[in-house]
Order: sequence, then structure tokens, then C-alpha cells
Amino acid sequence: GKNLPSAITIFGAKGDLTRRKLIPALYNLFTDHHLPPVFTICCVDFLEEDEEVFKQDLLAGVNEFSRNGKADEAVWNEFASCITYLQGDFMKEDTYKRLRKKLDTFDKENKKNSVRIFYFAVAPRFIEVIADALHVNTMCGRDQQDRIVVEKPFGTDLETAKKLNRFLTKRFAEKQIYRIDHYLGKEAVQNIMAFRFANYVFEPLWNRKYIDHIQISVAEEVGVGKRGGYYDSSGALRDMVQNHLLQLLCIIAMERPGFYQSELIRDAKVKVLKHIRPFTQQQVFKNVIRGQYTAGNVQGGRRVAYRKEEQVQPASNTETFVAARLFIDNDRWKGVPFYLRTGKSMPVQSSVITIQFKDSPHKIFKDDLTPNRLVISIQPELEISLLFESKVPGLKMKLKPVEMDFTYQEAYTETIPEAYEALLLDVLEGNPTLFMRADQVEAAWKVVMPILDAWKKYPSKELHLYKAGTWGPSTATELLKPYAKDWFRLSARGESIK
Ligand code: BG6
Repeated sequence: GKNLPSAITIFGAKGDLTRRKLIPALYNLFTDHHLPPVFTICCVDFLEEDEEVFKQDLLAGVNEFSRNGKADEAVWNEFASCITYLQGDFMKEDTYKRLRKKLDTFDKENKKNSVRIFYFAVAPRFIEVIADALHVNTMCGRDQQDRIVVEKPFGTDLETAKKLNRFLTKRFAEKQIYRIDHYLGKEAVQNIMAFRFANYVFEPLWNRKYIDHIQISVAEEVGVGKRGGYYDSSGALRDMVQNHLLQLLCIIAMERPGFYQSELIRDAKVKVLKHIRPFTQQQVFKNVIRGQYTAGNVQGGRRVAYRKEEQVQPASNTETFVAARLFIDNDRWKGVPFYLRTGKSMPVQSSVITIQFKDSPHKIFKDDLTPNRLVISIQPELEISLLFESKVPGLKMKLKPVEMDFTYQEAYTETIPEAYEALLLDVLEGNPTLFMRADQVEAAWKVVMPILDAWKKYPSKELHLYKAGTWGPSTATELLKPYAKDWFRLSARGESIK
């Protein structure tokens, strides 16, 4: 129902996510005429707040965080006229009674049942309370056309994720539940599917016979900032690896689905997770490196040690860096290491996936030294480049690696939507392809459980400290041996970003 009236309720309207991501995304969708002709955005939070003041703050958020910069005044006013603020405690029955009344009134005005979307931009402890209240008050569920959107963290381990899935699927049909992993909405991540499955030239090479190893690296310049409270009980493994990095791995490693169809795609991804070789406790410390940043300089600014960050325990062993070596035990990938790395307070933001091809078994040029390499850069640059040997112009047969480069900047004039724009539009249109199904989330937790268990048992064993503004502990580089000397960065030539 693309053009049905839609009622979007955001729980956690005063939170960071709403201000930085959700409202700017909805505003951009509105600007580009992607929202349905009739819609309302009902923002719920417990703070006492004047509706106009609330909207002014949202506008400031759009001006600061939207990819388009400052909002257009007329367009904003039109958009903002569809936003309301409802002050209410998530724990109180009365909040939902008032919300229901509001949504029913909207439907009556339009003489139609709207598509209702309930976005849970709240701390995990509220998810079940809100879900239950929506169910009890029969606000979400009519003909299964209504949807809930649940942010990560989805549970804190396999058990809690299963419990949450059971709780939600008792109250809503699976097709009504949209579990967000915003990495799947990123333009360059969506393009990996196109790249792999619309270009048959790569398919014969995409396996253990031709691929030496694969690196998936998501480096962040930011530290934990103001999120110390959440982060300290989470850590990089739960915060980034269980979801974003494993999802990237799935897209790189999955089999070609029979059709571009949501269930087939999600089936293919789950299969990857199920084929990842589980670690024994002993193997965890050999294959997974954890690190934590100490004080240092990041991009010319001073960064305090993680343990000195706001709301972080002074003796915290929480990891802000993870590097892991995984194997996928199936015909395509047996024996090919998949290296995953993510960390905070690194020198620059840089998310890249590198496919390192094998060297030729027999060389006829003495300086044919560098095997082919494919680098998919996800952010901040959107780029795919292939490294290959070429003859240096001149009278001698001399070789040098060069790059074939595809950059979005050169290839396209289109603007690049934010992940949340793509994903919110998918929710509105009822397309779950880029969202996590219950079994996907559980399979991903299953992969990281042995690591969580080993770390829990030995809380400080081999926690490597690294200086903020560096690329993490050196043991994470040793993990690559003998496959690579270092983690590859943006350039397929492996040069560091200046
Ligand atoms: C979030 C994590 O899911 O992803 C954050 O909770 C992290 O810790 C963020 O910073 C990274 O997202 P992006 O889109 O900035 O790469």
C-alpha cells in the first residue's frame, strides 16, 4: 500500500537517533516526494515539552545533520505541520490510550485505516513494555498491515535475543517486525548485491579457488562520546560485529539467490552464518583480538582514554576494538580466511572490504609481484577499485600495479541517500529485504557467543591497549599472517590514507 495514509509513531522522540537520523531522513523523503500524500508523525517521549519548541529542536537537528544541509523554510513548515508531540511515560497505560485516540482520529479524518508504523527508538528495557501495550490496546496489527521497527541492540546475547523474538512474535506476525541494521541501507552496501549478481564476470572467481582471503574493516574515528553508559556494557563485538560486520560478511559470501526476493535473499544470508566454523574457547584467544583505546590524538584533537570517558567504569575491560579470523565451512569458502576488524578512535573513518585474489601459479614476468585485489569502499568514499599489473610505458617490459577505479562521484550525478532514508521508505512500502529476520539475528548471535563466553570467563585476558588515533593493537596485524602484511585501506594499492 504505497499511497495509503500512514501514521508513523516514534517512541523515544527526544533521543539522539530521532534528532540525528530519523527526522532528517523523513524530512528528505518528504522533500523528494517519497512520503505518502497523507501522513502524520507522532512523536512520543516522557519529557514535558512544548510542541513548538520540540519542532524547533527537530529543525535544528535537520539543519545540522541532513545530507542536504539547511532545511528549506517553506518545505519544513509543511512537513512540520504533520508532526505532533505526545508527552507520555512508556510505562503508563494512559500514554497508549491517548496515543490510540490520536491515531484513531487520524484514521477517521481520512475515512480509512492508515498504515501504522511504530518505531522503537528507545533503550532496550522499553521494547517489551511498548510492544505489549501496542498489542493489548490493539493498536498495531489490523490485517497485519501495521509494522513495528526495532533498533539494535536486539538482545545482549543469544538467549535474550531468542526471548525477545518469542515475545514479539507472540504479539505480531514476523512480517510486521522490522529489525533494523542500518548498514544494510547504505548505498554502497546495497550495491554489493548488484556488483556480485549482475556482473557474471566475477562469479567464476568468487570462491576458494581464486580468492586468497577477504578483509572487512570498519574503522571509526569517533570514540564512545556520550554513549559510554550503553557502550560500556556492550563493547565492539556486540555493538558492531554481531550485526554490521557479520551482515557485510553475509553479503560478500552468500550464494546467488534464485530471485531478487526478500525471503530468498535472507535465506541465503542465514546459510552463511550457519556455515561459519564455531570457535572452541581455546580458539577464541588465537583468532579474536580485542583492544581498548588509551589517550591519544585523533585528527589533531585530544582523546581521553576509554576508561576516562563519561559513564565508563574506571577499570573497564570493555573492548573498543575487535579483529577476528573466521572460516566458512562450505564448498565455496572452505579454507579462505575472512578477517573482520572494527574499532573506535582510529585515525580516520574508513569502511572497506578487500577481496585479495590468489597469485598466479606460474609467472612469466619477474616483476609481476602483486596479485589482483578488489577493494569495495563503503564510506566515507563510495568506490570500487581493482588492482592489476600493467606495463609501464617505455622500451622495457617493466610492470607496475595500477587501479581500475569506479567512484560514485565520477559515475553518477544522483545524490546518495542516507541509510535511514532507504530503510524508512522500505518500512513504509512494506519491503523487508534489508531487515533482519528473527532467525538471522539468532544465527548472528550464535556466531559471537563463544567469544562472549570466553571473554566473560577471562575478563582481562589479552585485552590489548592501543593509543587513540592509531590502527589498533599490532597483534591484530599479526592475525593476518601469512595472508597479508597489513590491513588494506581505501586504495587497492594498500597505501594508507593521507
Ligand atoms: C551503530 C553503533 O550501530 O553504528 C555505533 O552503535 C557506531 O557505535 C555506528 O558508531 C556506526 O555507524 P556509521 O553509519 O556511522 O558507520
